[in-house]
Amino acid sequence: METAAILGGGTPCVFSSSLLHLPASSNRTACSLWCAPNKLILSTSTSQLSAFRSQSHLFSNYPTTTPPPPPRSKTSARNSTQTGIFLPHLVASMEQVEETYIMVKPDGLQRGLVGEIISRFEKKGFKLTGLKLFQCPTELAEEHYKDLKSKPFFPKLIEYITSGPVVCMAWEGVGVVASARKLIGSTDPLKAEPGTIRGDLAVQTGRNVVHGSDSPENGKREIALWFKEGELCEWTPAQAPWLRE
Ligand code: RTP
Ligand code: MG
Repeated sequence: METAAILGGGTPCVFSSSLLHLPASSNRTACSLWCAPNKLILSTSTSQLSAFRSQSHLFSNYPTTTPPPPPRSKTSARNSTQTGIFLPHLVASMEQVEETYIMVKPDGLQRGLVGEIISRFEKKGFKLTGLKLFQCPTELAEEHYKDLKSKPFFPKLIEYITSGPVVCMAWEGVGVVASARKLIGSTDPLKAEPGTIRGDLAVQTGRNVVHGSDSPENGKREIALWFKEGELCEWTPAQAPWLRE
């Protein structure tokens, strides 16, 4: 999708690079920004701005079927009264959207904690893009945890993960990988802070109820490992404008 916004019409062009937080390289968003006399022009070419993908709300005059954005502060309103004016949503939308693989382990399912665990990520405001109940074969568990192959606990870990069905989830959002790790808590549930999933719901490392990817790269790798093509769903949450300005 191509979008362009122009600030100007007699207003001096003021530009601060701190306005934009763009990744050095992104396969999702291409963006260019330049100044003409009295004009700041921003152009984006977007293949996937998934978590907050709808761009219609970025422009005050754009026809839209989505609900109006939340009430804006005085400062924001001052910048958004003119037709076609660039709104701050665009800056937020260009922050890097990450994916993470979250899995309710067999003990989490057996203990009836699936709803509770999903709920924590939903309430936080991340977007669910994949969900399935799945009996994990040994080879897949070994591939998933291949970095831990040399650890003494590896055989028991594989036995644990394949001991019953797991719930596989793909979640998406800005900063979702690190945030999910915080929501999950430390590997050892006795060291995990109260308020975290492991801190609240588990007592032993070997039964710590949930997995979360430890980096954006592993998030992508693990989602590709656990989900087949066509199992992920792209959608725009109705609440998006209420989560990010
Ligand atoms: P996960 O990958 O499952 O989200 O867990 P994590 O990052 O917090 O911890 P990691 O070091 O990746 O370990 C993977 C899982 O292996 C089991 N484990 N057992 N007996 C032990 O000392 C031990 N250490 C780790 C846990 O189930 C851990 O979540
Ligand atoms: Mg890990």
